[in-house]
Amino acid sequence: MNAPIKQHLIDPEICIRCYTCEMTCPIEAITHNDDNVVVDAEKCNFCMDCIPVCPTGSIDEWRVVETPYSLDEQFEWDELPEQQELAGGGESGGVEALDEAMAKLLEEAHSGVGGKSVAPASASKPSVNLYNLGKPAVAKVQGNYRLTKEDSGSDVRHIILDFGGQPFPVLEGQSIGIIPPGTDENGKPHLPRLYSVSSPRDGERPNYNNVSLTVKREDQGLCSNYVCDLEKGAEVKVTGPFGGTFLMPDDPSTRLLMVCTGTGSAPFRAFTMRRQRVASGASGDMMLFFGARTPDALPYFGPLNKVPEKVMKKHLVFSRVEGQPKEYVQDRMMAEEDAIAEMLQDPKLHIYVCGLKGMEEGVEKALLNIAESVGLPWDATRETLRAEGRYHVETY
Ligand code: A2P
Repeated sequence: MNAPIKQHLIDPEICIRCYTCEMTCPIEAITHNDDNVVVDAEKCNFCMDCIPVCPTGSIDEWRVVETPYSLDEQFEWDELPEQQELAGGGESGGVEALDEAMAKLLEEAHSGVGGKSVAPASASKPSVNLYNLGKPAVAKVQGNYRLTKEDSGSDVRHIILDFGGQPFPVLEGQSIGIIPPGTDENGKPHLPRLYSVSSPRDGERPNYNNVSLTVKREDQGLCSNYVCDLEKGAEVKVTGPFGGTFLMPDDPSTRLLMVCTGTGSAPFRAFTMRRQRVASGASGDMMLFFGARTPDALPYFGPLNKVPEKVMKKHLVFSRVEGQPKEYVQDRMMAEEDAIAEMLQDPKLHIYVCGLKGMEEGVEKALLNIAESVGLPWDATRETLRAEGRYHVETY
């Protein structure tokens, strides 16, 4: 009988197929087929490089096994197998069974605020992985509108995709993959790039089978340039939907604290539209901290300003307005510490952070300061929030 080993696995239910782990792994132990991203037990040397880069925490799964699961087995999974009782009475229990050195590596890999998260208790059940690399959906571009001013230095687009007769159910907060045409330098088809959906579940236009995306043109961005240049009527290959945790609570009495920069606003546009469509006026409050360089570079500046303050308290924060001091979202959060402290003590509060990776640290510090100013130990508070599906971070 083999001695038990700890096998590194990826949770196919939560993985959003961004392939970042595969691109990060220094020894090519991570690979994919049309369906799943998997770890080769024969190659993985537990370096943990892939753990902190995973935006969902799906990478952080371990099983103690006598015979490792093969790649072919992992390719077939829709969900992870339970930890098996080991025949030899060896140790079991997944993460608990990791030895000390490995546990320490994992802890270091998790020192950021990302990591595992669970969906809000009242979130609807998302559909995931309906369309994959081998069988993508084909959507038609219904519209492509520039959201930022020509001379703002930032080209952000509102793209509307219509799925026609193909079922494509999405929830607010989920992402979809867009497969850019052509091949890479090795002649392989390009991998899809992920974009957060910015429309609510019943469609950009209510009861139409369409979704919107919020996409920023990046200088050398292969897919962002492709998407930002799409013309009306063009056909686009789409995978997904993906994402099972960064979802909004359906309970209308819950309160939402949302913090974003730039295109990180996409899921919050969806959350806000959902609330306005189904529970306008009757729902728990929402507070938004949204950072951009200038008003001209802030996506949805006009429509956002029309959302009544009693539906959502908006803090639009600018870092490069002439004659004004540079301000980041975390600075404004500190200026609003009393309001946030009150929210932090409410069991109905759900926190969402989306946007630049660099913002995570500052936002965390602000939350720590605010929580501790009212006697809440932040680490413990955050862990409780996360375990209850009330704390969500998605940064890139
Ligand atoms: P700046 O670039 O002036 O430093 P966009 O996605 O449109 O570029 O907007 C990102 C916004 O986030 C900008 O205002 C940018 O400011 C700001 N930003 C950059 N770094 C951080 C950070 N570490 N914390 C919070 N905001 C940041």
